[in-house]
Amino acid sequence: MSQEADGQKVDTRKRKFLIAATSAVGGVAVAGVAVPLVMSMMPSARAKAAGAPVEVDVSKIEPGMLLTVEWRGKPVWIVSRTKEMLDKLSTLDGQLADPKSEMPQQPEYCTNPVRSIKPELLVAVGICTHLGCSPTYRKDVGAADLGADWPGGFFCPCHGSRFDLAGRVYKGVPAPTNLVVPPHQYLSDAKLLIGVDAKGA
Ligand code: FES
Repeated sequence: MSQEADGQKVDTRKRKFLIAATSAVGGVAVAGVAVPLVMSMMPSARAKAAGAPVEVDVSKIEPGMLLTVEWRGKPVWIVSRTKEMLDKLSTLDGQLADPKSEMPQQPEYCTNPVRSIKPELLVAVGICTHLGCSPTYRKDVGAADLGADWPGGFFCPCHGSRFDLAGRVYKGVPAPTNLVVPPHQYLSDAKLLIGVDAKGA
């Protein structure tokens, strides 16, 4: 009897456990799924940190807007430049430290006046070449705090470096060089791949 009673007790405990286990099934199931998922994601996360390419859909970037993605732990900007923005670039050379991008701050295929593969899309690492702050995107022409002749560009709040909308640095600011253009390529009109180019660089 008592054994049966004990057995019953055991069964009851088992049942309680089962009930508890059942109520936690969702969590267990999630954990069961999550572990392999996390494990399968880990190499990818490590790979990303080590520099795996990042694919970006650029089809939704509105004209004039900036999209930031992360590559190798750094912000990479993709700016959709309008015709007005592009037209201004050609008027700034006299104010810039390296207007022709002679310093090796970009791949060869971006060593051109607009520093890009497609004129309408700038791809640049969003880190100031002075001491590594992240400049802000100041696209508004004549912004009150930047002066009536500000043509739109990037402004570094740390020590005041200025860059145009091709990431070219102005003369007389602390930053010594243009912003870096990372290796990249277009897989299609909409798909940009950052981190590797057609040569595999
Ligand atoms: S870090 Fe940008 S101006 Fe110094």
